[in-house]
Amino acid sequence: MKRALIIGGSRGLGLGLVREHLTRGWHVTATYRSPSPELEALGAETMALDVTDTAQIGALASRLAGQTFDLLFVNPGIMASRLPVSQAAPADIEAMMLVNAISPIRVADALAGYVAAGGVVGFMTSILGSIGTNEDGRMELYRASKAALNSLVRSFRARHATADFTVLALHPGVVRTSMGGPTAPLDIETSVRGLADTIEARRGIGGAAFVDYRNEVIPW
Ligand SMILES: NC(=O)c1ccc[n+]([C@@H]2O[C@H](COP(=O)([O-])OP(=O)(O)OC[C@H]3O[C@@H](n4cnc5c(N)ncnc54)[C@H](OP(=O)(O)O)[C@@H]3O)[C@@H](O)[C@H]2O)c1
Repeated sequence: MKRALIIGGSRGLGLGLVREHLTRGWHVTATYRSPSPELEALGAETMALDVTDTAQIGALASRLAGQTFDLLFVNPGIMASRLPVSQAAPADIEAMMLVNAISPIRVADALAGYVAAGGVVGFMTSILGSIGTNEDGRMELYRASKAALNSLVRSFRARHATADFTVLALHPGVVRTSMGGPTAPLDIETSVRGLADTIEARRGIGGAAFVDYRNEVIPW
C-alpha cells in the first residue's frame, strides 16, 4: 500500500487531496492546524501541526520517525492581503511570507529523510508565483510569496541533490475554495484528481518541475 503524508489537510484542496488518495487505496497521514470534523470523518491518520511553529515541526518529525512515505505533500497557503506592497499591513506581509514560502521548506527539510526511494515531494504553489508569466502584477504580495516558495523549492532540490525523490511545485488551477472564491472555474474534485495524476506521471523522473494539475509545465 502506498503511503502519503499530507501537510494541511483540514479543508479546501488539502482535504480534497486526502480524500483523493484514500479513494485510490493509499494509507494517508494528514496534518491539520485547526481541528476538522471533515478530515476526521475520512479515516486518515491525523496529527496537529501549525507549519509556522518550528517546535511543532520537530515534534511531528519525532513522532513519525521510522516511517516512510511515497508522497510528502506540503499544501498550506494564505492570502492575507491583496493590497500592493506599499499599502499592505506589515503583519500581513510577514504572515504570507512565513506561511507560503518559509514554512513549507522548513517542514520539507525536517521530513525529507522520510520520503521513500523514488518518492515525490510536492509543494502547493500557484501560477501566480511564475515570474516569467507575470504581466499584470495582480495580488503582488501573494505572487511574491509563491515566487519565493518556487525559488526555495529549487534550493531545496539542490540541497538534497543526491536524494532519490522527485520535487514538484504544483499549481492546482483556480479552484472553488475559501481562497479561490465561489466563482472560480474548477471544483476541488477536478483539481485534486489532476494533481494526483500529475504526481503519479512524474514519479521517478527526479529533478524539480513546476507544473499544473494537467501536468503542463509552467515557466519558473
Ligand atoms: N484555490 C485556488 O484557486 C488556489 C490557486 C492556486 C494555489 N492555491 C494554493 O493551494 C493551497 C490550498 O489553498 P485552498 O484554496 O485549499 O485554500 P483554503 O481553503 O483557504 O485552505 C488553506 C489551508 O491552509 C491551511 N493553513 C493555513 N495556514 C496554516 C498554518 N500556519 N499551518 C498549517 N496549516 C495552515 C489551512 O488550515 P486551517 O483550516 O487551520 O486554516 C487550510 O487547510 C494554498 O497553498 C494556496 O495558496 C490555491
